[in-house]
Amino acid sequence: MATPLRKTLRCVIAAGTVAALTAACGGGDSGSGSDAASGELTGRGPITLVQGKDTSGNVQKQVDAWNAQHPNEQVRLVELPEEADAQRQQMVQNAQAKSDAYTVLNLDVVWTAEFAANRWIAPLPQDQFNLSQFLPPTVRTGQYRGRLYAAPWKTDAGLLYYRTDLVKKAGASGPPKTWDEMKQICDKVAKDGVSCYGGQFEKYEGLTVNFSEAVHSAGGAVVDDQGKPNVNTPQAKQGLEFLVQGFKSGFIPKQAITYKEEEARRAFEKGGLVFLRQWPYQYALSTKSDVKDKFDVAPLPGPNGPGAPTLGGHNLAISAFAKNKATALDFIKYLTSAEQERANMLASSEAPTLAALYEDAELKNKYPYLGVLKESLLKAKPRPEAVRYGDVTKAIQENAYAALTGAKSSDQALADMQAQLGKLTQQ
Ligand code: GLC
Repeated sequence: MATPLRKTLRCVIAAGTVAALTAACGGGDSGSGSDAASGELTGRGPITLVQGKDTSGNVQKQVDAWNAQHPNEQVRLVELPEEADAQRQQMVQNAQAKSDAYTVLNLDVVWTAEFAANRWIAPLPQDQFNLSQFLPPTVRTGQYRGRLYAAPWKTDAGLLYYRTDLVKKAGASGPPKTWDEMKQICDKVAKDGVSCYGGQFEKYEGLTVNFSEAVHSAGGAVVDDQGKPNVNTPQAKQGLEFLVQGFKSGFIPKQAITYKEEEARRAFEKGGLVFLRQWPYQYALSTKSDVKDKFDVAPLPGPNGPGAPTLGGHNLAISAFAKNKATALDFIKYLTSAEQERANMLASSEAPTLAALYEDAELKNKYPYLGVLKESLLKAKPRPEAVRYGDVTKAIQENAYAALTGAKSSDQALADMQAQLGKLTQQ
């Protein structure tokens, strides 16, 4: 019988990723390549595109442009809630009911393993996507056991949004590279309704992201190279304590415990924060806000120098239970084309997955931080790959939240998290 570690290693090799919990091997995919293939993506006609709220408003425009060209293959955009966990829940329910209501799923990068292993999504014909043109980490997020299940569409990495006017007022020569530099700037300018640092600290996927970033920035890892949980370490404690002490000292405002992406964005745009950890999508929206001429973007700071962002993003998959899968495949190719990715970035500042766009003169001109974004994306750390990702993220969120709200000490929260993740590893 294979030991848990051996089993884990086997899964790591099979999954081809650094961080694969043994749980990633729990699904029913034979990986033999003999089941559903490109030939099974048949049928043409109306389809749906299902995703979280279209915050930028640009997805509807892309859908409208497609519909104008495809009168018999119309796409309807179905918007789910803003919050990642609620989106996942609705997509899982749709799959468990084997409903054909959802066709193209805009899958968060952390859900690929679960949806692929449960055969809720159909494998994509890898040879019909020019994968070498995409940023390599984004391709890996759409694969499970070496097979493409979701086409890379929009990628994401945590960035530090900062108020240029306040950083200058504090006498700093540029954005902070360390957590201490951030505090020093705030000591001088964070007053009169302006708090220092915000992020996403509500108990949901965003907290898993922010916790992971703090741990990785402090030199720790949520799971080690073999995919085993690794949060009972001094580095993980240093990362978590950065956030815990942040709340205790007021460096992070109390109300940030309720922030998801949009609450955090609104706080920054109202002028209530000097610094905010946020995704690329905010850039374009903030250029239309009260802080439009007073903000910029830098790499996330860490304790001793630049920090380690978490890799996020969304890929496009086809529900196994959908009709008109041939139309769905064409629609995915359309959305992931260079023309559409480029137009989407111009309109929304969401990060494209095609590497060449990071060298595009017009995009660089419109988004001067494009170099910082690419650098952050390439060094970003993935979250654990797990078929039971919902349970994995719950163990992280609940314990991190308990530490941030003072219900548990950091030591207790990390010990409990380690034990819960360990159980998931062994199943
Ligand atoms: C963003 C990221 C996604 C992440 C989510 C957390 O949408 O792209 O990967 O899970 O934020 O809130």
